[in-house]
Amino acid sequence: MTRAVGGVGFFAVQIAAALGAHVIGTAGPRNHGSLCDAGAAEVLDHAAGPVSGQLTGPVDAVLDLVGGPALEDPPKQVRDVARIAGVVDPVVDAMGGRYVFVRPERHDLEELARMADAGQLRVAIARAFPLERTAEAHELVAGGHVRGKVVVTLR
Ligand SMILES: NC(=O)c1ccc[n+]([C@@H]2O[C@H](COP(=O)([O-])OP(=O)(O)OC[C@H]3O[C@@H](n4cnc5c(N)ncnc54)[C@H](OP(=O)(O)O)[C@@H]3O)[C@@H](O)[C@H]2O)c1
Repeated sequence: MTRAVGGVGFFAVQIAAALGAHVIGTAGPRNHGSLCDAGAAEVLDHAAGPVSGQLTGPVDAVLDLVGGPALEDPPKQVRDVARIAGVVDPVVDAMGGRYVFVRPERHDLEELARMADAGQLRVAIARAFPLERTAEAHELVAGGHVRGKVVVTLR
């Protein structure tokens, strides 16, 4: 799983680990501890070259949260390209994998709530902003180095 400590990745790592997956995630060095806390069994540095060169062997599935040129590497990481999924770049479909655009589904949200109640899912809040500072919240997210979620509070 790439970008594994971002707003999406931090959830995805926890969910995959709770389902029994051996999760290998990428993050910058300052976030390696957080990635282990989320349940990753192995941590790779996203600045240390292609993931395929850091793996000790092929993996069963890839979740790409980066897109763009980074998508040249997953076919070299995985046993079967059909097991590449991504939420950033629709080109994943043309590669033989699966692009996913997430929409809230009641059943899925109930399952996530159950996992949260069971202590299997934590929400990492990087920072909270009041509504009138929403522009700053967007700027922080656009910087690309947030760990977890940025919250806008309504009173
Ligand atoms: N299709 C959908 O339904 C859907 C839904 C939600 C989000 N998305 C997309 O999913 C992507 C991820 O969203 P997000 O909210 O999780 O992002 P995010 O929270 O902004 O991601 C920030 C994290 O990304 C890490 N990072 C930056 N560049 C990286 C790289 N090349 N490799 C690995 N890690 C990297 C940063 O680590 P460092 O600080 O260490 O660099 C930071 O921890 C976005 O493109 C978003 O648009 C799609």
